[in-house]
Amino acid sequence: MTKFKKNYTRVTTNTLLEMKNNSEKIAMLTAYDFTLSKIIDSAGIDIILVGDSASNVMAGHETTLPITLDQMIYHASSVVKACSRALIVVDLPFGTYQADSKEALRSAIKIMKESGAHAVKLEGGKIAKDSIERILQAGIPVMGHLGLTPQSIYKFGTYSVRAKQKKESDELMNDAFLLEKLGCFGIVLEKIPSKLAEKVAKKISPPVIGIGAGNKVDGQVLVLHDMLGMNKDFSPRFLRRYLDLNDQISEAVKSYSSDVKSGKFPNKNEQY
Ligand code: KIV
Repeated sequence: MTKFKKNYTRVTTNTLLEMKNNSEKIAMLTAYDFTLSKIIDSAGIDIILVGDSASNVMAGHETTLPITLDQMIYHASSVVKACSRALIVVDLPFGTYQADSKEALRSAIKIMKESGAHAVKLEGGKIAKDSIERILQAGIPVMGHLGLTPQSIYKFGTYSVRAKQKKESDELMNDAFLLEKLGCFGIVLEKIPSKLAEKVAKKISPPVIGIGAGNKVDGQVLVLHDMLGMNKDFSPRFLRRYLDLNDQISEAVKSYSSDVKSGKFPNKNEQY
């Protein structure tokens, strides 16, 4: 049973702040297409992230790096058409905001104009300061992303837990304070110790959404295809599977193939 403290007909960045202040947890999922977005929006998800994880999930790339701005806009505009309640946030893909803040703003504007989404997300703290500032000045809401930032995978070398040591955890805390000061409406914390995530969520006012960051934060995000159990090859500790769609789809396809081959499909009622 979903626990809503208040019935929001449209989630905005202000709603999220209100939720945090009312201790209502925020539920966020990724989505990349019309059909699944329609289902999860109707089911009452608060935020839909058109994540650059589309690069892995939809396009089959090993990392999030190859996905382009136009591909993100294609996914985002399909999601936008499907939704009437959720706040829709779109990832700025790798290479579209790191070079300079003017390019970052151009990328963010292109996403907002061409997809109709409500906000953008980008990875990094101090390093992305100028870009975040410029995008916010243009009136575009920005969500931050700290901890394990998959666009930097070749710098990290692994997808293991970040900020376990004091130096990195202090840096993360400072980055979170900076994102709050700049005016980000929320921050995703990915794969960091739960104690650190709890500290960040307590010390800053924007909602903190965790993935692999424990449950003492203001909300949770998962990749939709992972929580639906579509991908058997990815089993991090933080992932809870709510369905086993991989097996269910496989069984359905086997039954269909067998019915076609045996001539059982279509039957008399399934033809004209
Ligand atoms: O791209 C993505 O799916 C993300 C989430 C993992 C937070 O950034």
